[in-house]
Amino acid sequence: MELGARASQSARHSYTGDESSRPGLTPVAPRRVGFEELISVLIAEHVEIRKELARLKGSVEGQEFSSATEILGELDRLFRQHIADEEAQVLRLLIEAYGVRGADEAIVIFRQHRPIYQLMEEVKKLASLSSEELALNEASLRDMLEKHTQAEESRVFPKALSTYRERRGKLNL
Ligand SMILES: [Fe+2]
Ligand SMILES: [Fe+2]
Repeated sequence: MELGARASQSARHSYTGDESSRPGLTPVAPRRVGFEELISVLIAEHVEIRKELARLKGSVEGQEFSSATEILGELDRLFRQHIADEEAQVLRLLIEAYGVRGADEAIVIFRQHRPIYQLMEEVKKLASLSSEELALNEASLRDMLEKHTQAEESRVFPKALSTYRERRGKLNL
């Protein structure tokens, strides 16, 4: 890894929280795809996450815990890879371009990854929670993820894409 990348990675970790310190969150390697393709993949995954959450709501309401466990396993896999790419690739680009202060908006939005993951862990307790607690946690998870993905799509991704295209344009000159 080059020195610049390492410096921005440590800056990223100190602002969004080091992955290795998250309980149950093992580091996942970022995917190697072009940046524009990555953004499309991340947006497609938001759609997939929304679909899984709608299925989860149905399973929780119907007290179908084995199907809820299966959906939560799928969401867990999806979310880990997803946030690994957002933090290692999208945030890295913004920090490299604008510094930690300039990337503040994305940092604040990406800081929600940890509480979202913790809430998902709470929901995984399923049957050991009261049905009121479970319904409340599941609804909060859906609400948090909805606001989070909207903030990414309206603020973080457009800025990252325009920054990427601007830099690529400069390199071609
Ligand atoms: Fe995110
Ligand atoms: Fe996202």
